[in-house]
Amino acid sequence: MMPVELHDAVVTLRPWTLQDAPWYVECTMDPEVQRFTTDPPTLTAEDVAAAISALAVHPERLAYLVADRASGQRLGNLALDRADDVGDVSYWIAAAARGRGVATRALELLAAAAFEHLDLRKLRLWAHAANTASRRVAERAGFRRDPARDQTRAIKGETWPTVAYVRLR
Ligand SMILES: CC(C)(COP(=O)(O)OP(=O)(O)OC[C@H]1O[C@@H](n2cnc3c(N)ncnc32)[C@H](O)[C@@H]1OP(=O)(O)O)[C@@H](O)C(=O)NCCC(=O)NCCS
Repeated sequence: MMPVELHDAVVTLRPWTLQDAPWYVECTMDPEVQRFTTDPPTLTAEDVAAAISALAVHPERLAYLVADRASGQRLGNLALDRADDVGDVSYWIAAAARGRGVATRALELLAAAAFEHLDLRKLRLWAHAANTASRRVAERAGFRRDPARDQTRAIKGETWPTVAYVRLR
């Protein structure tokens, strides 16, 4: 079992609550989130609240809100989807909180805890090939390229060239 909350010196990963739903939507309006994640531009707070409620019956999906440890301020989103012994991670950081290592910290924290507490053999992630920031986050958090899993994906009516990363236990 994963701990309910994870911390390092700077960030906390905590469960989402229904009160966080409008903030999630606000963050996904950001052009970079639209450009590089599967979150649709039409997302509503009701959709997000339903997804948060559904987490209770989907133990294979772990979703954390990334917060500032000292102030509790909301900073981002980090999710882990499990299938057998493989986990897929995805994330975004609110525009105002970018560029100060939050994503790297959050991903390192999640990866270490996932390998410690879950019976996972590997963690995977993918990014749009042009997503330099996310690719750097992956590398900084100990992931390496996995070119065999690169693929072209149909997302939001577009064709995205994507690159794959993996971190083994
Ligand atoms: C990708 C994202 C999560 C990075 O979050 P972040 O907290 O700003 O990342 P960090 O501060 O940990 O930065 C990690 C590295 O990326 C680099 N980086 C950050 N933003 C960058 C940018 N726009 N262009 C190039 N490099 C960038 C940083 O310099 C750092 O590298 P360094 O350690 O060599 O200096 C954030 O930009 C984001 O949410 N983008 C939109 C959504 C998204 O792309 N999600 C990921 C989908 S795969």
